This record gives sequence, structure tokens and C-alpha cells, in this order.
Amino acid sequence: MAVTAFDYPSAHYASRAGIDLILVGDSLGNTVLGFETTVPVTLDMMVHHSAAVNRAAPEALVVTDIPFGEAHRDFDRLLASSMRCLQEAGSGAVKIEGGESMADRIAALVGAGVPVLGHIGLLPQQVLRLGGYRKFGKTPEERKQLLTDARAVERAGAFAVVAEMVDADCARELAGTLKIPLIGIGAGPDCDGQILVSYDLLGLNPEQSPSFARRFGDLGPAMEEAFRRYAGEVRDGRFPERKE
Ligand code: KIV
Repeated sequence: MAVTAFDYPSAHYASRAGIDLILVGDSLGNTVLGFETTVPVTLDMMVHHSAAVNRAAPEALVVTDIPFGEAHRDFDRLLASSMRCLQEAGSGAVKIEGGESMADRIAALVGAGVPVLGHIGLLPQQVLRLGGYRKFGKTPEERKQLLTDARAVERAGAFAVVAEMVDADCARELAGTLKIPLIGIGAGPDCDGQILVSYDLLGLNPEQSPSFARRFGDLGPAMEEAFRRYAGEVRDGRFPERKE
């Protein structure tokens, strides 16, 4: 199973908890950096945060998301960006959003020695074009396209594929069709693996988390309480004591 992580401590604790794959997702933009979407996230930001995650030396495979626009530039640029993720940040693989239309590029990256995680269904980097986030694979046309996307990414050599906000029945069909693992997020229980954005599952998202993201912790209120106690104890002179 997989989670996103964006910094040293979360990678450390995710690794200790036995997480298999850590994605330094470009959801970094919404969750850590306060942007409304993932679109403003740059390659430099991804490399910076991925390096911090890798410094925690997690046993999990660390995958860096190729951010908005990078995968659509010329192939040499995409290869150079992917190499930065592997060489400079120390990640073990990159993730690329897109199915059939990205298959040739994925195949060329894999051919150059870059392990690639695919991503189909909702593509958050397309949010400006889509006009919002929604579920995919409910209509026969979308189902057919998702199958085409999944097969194309598999054929291109991706080692696994993320299916985001895909109708649960469609995701089951995809998982049954593919030989590589299908990792679901908002895609029902029949995928081979699951991924969640860590800040959603930890309860650290001050905005509303997506409806599919179950909250397994409540760190936001715990953080607020710790800050409140600290501020109170400083104000009334109980912190620090001499020994502190
Ligand atoms: O950026 C991200 O966190 C992701 C996950 C939602 C899979 O792509």
C-alpha cells in the first residue's frame, strides 16, 4: 500500500509503519504549499521535497510526480527532468499523468532506464481544462477509454498504474485486465493497492478532504492544541523553566 509524503518526518513515520511505496505527489501544491491546484507546482519544488523524503532513507520505493507541463514538453526535457528526480532527489521512479496519449513517452523513458508509475482516471493536472474534479468511468465511452489508457500504459512498460476517482466497477475491470498492479485512490475496494494523500488521512488538511479520503488520524486539532498550550504557558510564565 502507498501514501504520499512530502517531508522527512512523514517519510520516516510512513516507512516505520511499513508503507510499501511513498509518492512525493504534486498534491504537495494543495496540501503543503497552499495552492488551490497542483498546476503551480514546479520541478524544482518536486526535487526539493523528494530529496527531503529520500533523506529519511525509507525502505519504501520513493516515486516523484512529474509536475504540470513537464511531461508535455520535448522528450529531452522530460528525460532531463526525470533524471533530476532520480539523480538529484534520489527517488526510485517517476509518476506521469496520462494514458494512451502519454504511452510513447513512457515507453521512451522506460527504455532510457527510468522506472515509471502511470496515472489514469482523474488527472488533477488537467483541472483547469476539466473545470473541476469528478469521477471517471461511469459511461461506456469513458470505461472503454480507461481500458485503452490502462493497457497503453502497461504496454509502455510502467511498473504499476494509479487510478484516481474511477468508478468502482470500472476499476475492478481494469484490475482484472492488467498484469501490473492498479493502485486506486477514490476507485473502490477492488484495486490491487490503495494510495491516499497523507495530509488527508492524517487529518492535517484544513480545507475539506475529498469524500473518498478516510481520516485515520486527527493531527490538525492535535497541532492546534499543542501550539495553544505552548502559547499559554509562555504567556503565563510556566515555560521555560530554568532547566529548559
Ligand atoms: O499528487 C498526488 O498526490 C497524486 C495522488 C493523488 C495519487 O497524484
